[in-house]
Amino acid sequence: MSCSLIQKYNVAGPRYTSYPTVPYWDESSFSLQQWKQTLKRSFDESNQSEGISLYIHLPFCESLCTFCGCHKKVTKRHEMEQPYIQAVLKEWDLYCQLLQEKPIIKEIHLGGGTPTFFSIEHLQQLIQGVLAKADIAKDYEFSFEGHPNNTTRAHLQALYDLGFRRVSYGVQDYNDTVQKAIHRIQPFEQVANVTQWAREIGYRSISHDLVFGLPFQNLNDVLKTIDLTNSLMPDRLAFYSYAHVPWIKGNGQRGFKDQDVPKDDVKRTLYEAGKKQLLAHGYHEMGMDHFALAQDGMYQSFQAGTLHRNFMGYTSSKTQLMIGLGISSISDSWYSFAQNEKDLEAYYACLDRDEIPVVKGHVLSAEDLKIRQHILNLMCTFQTSWAEPSMDFTERAQVIEQLIEMQQDGLLTIETDRIVITEQGKPFVRNICMAFDLHLKRRKPETQIFSMTI
Ligand SMILES: C[S@@+](CC[C@H](N)C(=O)[O-])C[C@H]1O[C@@H](n2cnc3c(N)ncnc32)[C@H](O)[C@@H]1O
Ligand code: SF4
Repeated sequence: MSCSLIQKYNVAGPRYTSYPTVPYWDESSFSLQQWKQTLKRSFDESNQSEGISLYIHLPFCESLCTFCGCHKKVTKRHEMEQPYIQAVLKEWDLYCQLLQEKPIIKEIHLGGGTPTFFSIEHLQQLIQGVLAKADIAKDYEFSFEGHPNNTTRAHLQALYDLGFRRVSYGVQDYNDTVQKAIHRIQPFEQVANVTQWAREIGYRSISHDLVFGLPFQNLNDVLKTIDLTNSLMPDRLAFYSYAHVPWIKGNGQRGFKDQDVPKDDVKRTLYEAGKKQLLAHGYHEMGMDHFALAQDGMYQSFQAGTLHRNFMGYTSSKTQLMIGLGISSISDSWYSFAQNEKDLEAYYACLDRDEIPVVKGHVLSAEDLKIRQHILNLMCTFQTSWAEPSMDFTERAQVIEQLIEMQQDGLLTIETDRIVITEQGKPFVRNICMAFDLHLKRRKPETQIFSMTI
């Protein structure tokens, strides 16, 4: 990839797990009442036909990885588990009262933090408590994020018995220097064990998270990590670009210096070399930063054009309604977004008052809904079209003007009423989405709020 393209397009930009992106939510036009109304509307429209998704945030981690951008609480006090599970079940109960009809659950994802921080008994209590008030869809998918260092065989078996068939493990990088810098010692043997156990128990999809652009990471480290990963043949891989956002995460990411982090074309070379190695090992690229073996369900949805993207990243099954439970979780009713209280004590206090702990959100305008669909199309299928009148939008001329320059740079081709991203343009998909982002166009951020696109 050309260095001049990287210099030109390496700007701060969103990862588009939502549109509008969180810093552009219009909080003045949002209220808990509106959230409840759009939630109910979406539920009534979609529960019977496709069911709903649940994202449950389990925030605790035993130690802090200094590169981590997730919302977590570092503690060794496992007595925090029980009150947290009770609170999440109370939150679910408040939603069930509001929805009136029994929810049909299509998808559950346990994210974190570290879901496997929790004991088997508490995870069982959580899932059984949730399912006691719901029906399960026929083609349901339950998945969780496991930390290889504390996922036990018993965790895997218990969650399998509850219906979980997908697991993703955080790996990041196997090099000692990198692991020390990010304060995460992640032995290969441990990852091999948890991968093997999941396979023996019958999990259908095992995924590993790798990250490029970590402090001190060089080309050799990336290639070695990919070769070791390939020896375990996970069905799926996330190959994330390290999001260096120290201004948001406070001291967490300051365990190393800015100059220890690979940047620009050096960082991009890590991705390019890693991608080449993954393709050589038989993995296929899908969407942004994701790879899978041909038989993986998500790769099949990518090929069928049905891949979807939400706050959890990519998913093969889309539901119109996703309810997020637990601190900091984001819910999506399609017509509006809502985010929960991030502070644990304030979250508990809200639930003690029998209130849904939503603190901010955004109601999507008709224009937002169209632009969101274009951005989803680009992120999931690398193309989008405005041939249907319902997909046309007011500032199309200005958007196309910006796309013409990208066409000249070989990133995409513009046809009468659609654009298609070229192979060369795929690494710049975030920049291409930014051309459609009318909120960003109208109000440029005054300080850096997003990570760099490359
Ligand atoms: C919640 S963690 C995974 C589960 C478990 N806590 C663990 O670490 O194994 C989610 C994943 O997000 C990715 N991640 C976290 N912080 C990141 C950052 N700053 N940039 C890119 N990826 C990041 C990592 O790959 C990590 O495995
Ligand atoms: S990477 Fe995982 S274990 Fe480490 S701090 Fe982040 S959420 Fe916790």
